[in-house]
Amino acid sequence: MLLDPVSLSEYRTEISAIGDPLFHGETSLYIEDIINSKSQHMIFALFRSGRVAGFFVLSSVLDEAEIIEVAVSENLRRNGIASQLMTEVFEWCEKNGVANIFLEVRESNFPAIEYYKKYGFVENGIRKNYYRDPVENAILMLKKLP
Ligand SMILES: CC(C)(COP(=O)(O)OP(=O)(O)OC[C@H]1O[C@@H](n2cnc3c(N)ncnc32)[C@H](O)[C@@H]1OP(=O)(O)O)[C@@H](O)C(=O)NCCC(=O)NCCS
Repeated sequence: MLLDPVSLSEYRTEISAIGDPLFHGETSLYIEDIINSKSQHMIFALFRSGRVAGFFVLSSVLDEAEIIEVAVSENLRRNGIASQLMTEVFEWCEKNGVANIFLEVRESNFPAIEYYKKYGFVENGIRKNYYRDPVENAILMLKKLP
């Protein structure tokens, strides 16, 4: 579900616990900015047994959206949780007139690249040495919505 600021405040610790170790602490910063109305980003979360199992940070301007982060709790992966989140995000994008969804992913991140390809994203560029810790190229991907 798309979290409103009250729900985001309630679940921020659980979301950060999944995201911060993966994304160098940036998940907490995104949450902080959304709660303080300093950013237009959105966070979708999926729950299992009342706890956050996975989340999605999405940014959207006019008819474009960007996947900023997506992550699933390590012990719950390969259970279709990211798939459910992607379906929800596609629904939101379709309802809100988004035509193109962009993302960047580390070129060594095979599970994520396979995931995005499964949902119709295609590679449309590369950014050399884009990431730090460790330095790595970013693969750019795009999905066009009908
Ligand atoms: C990428 C990630 C979000 C996938 O979450 P998940 O809930 O395990 O994904 P799902 O179970 O919904 O799998 C959907 C599809 O993704 C692909 N996939 C997921 N994990 C995979 C793996 N380890 N190896 C190969 N393909 C994989 C498959 O195509 C899978 O479809 P299938 O089950 O029919 O084979 C998860 O691995 C994760 O949190 N990774 C760490 C964070 C990350 O790297 N995020 C992306 C940053 S850009």
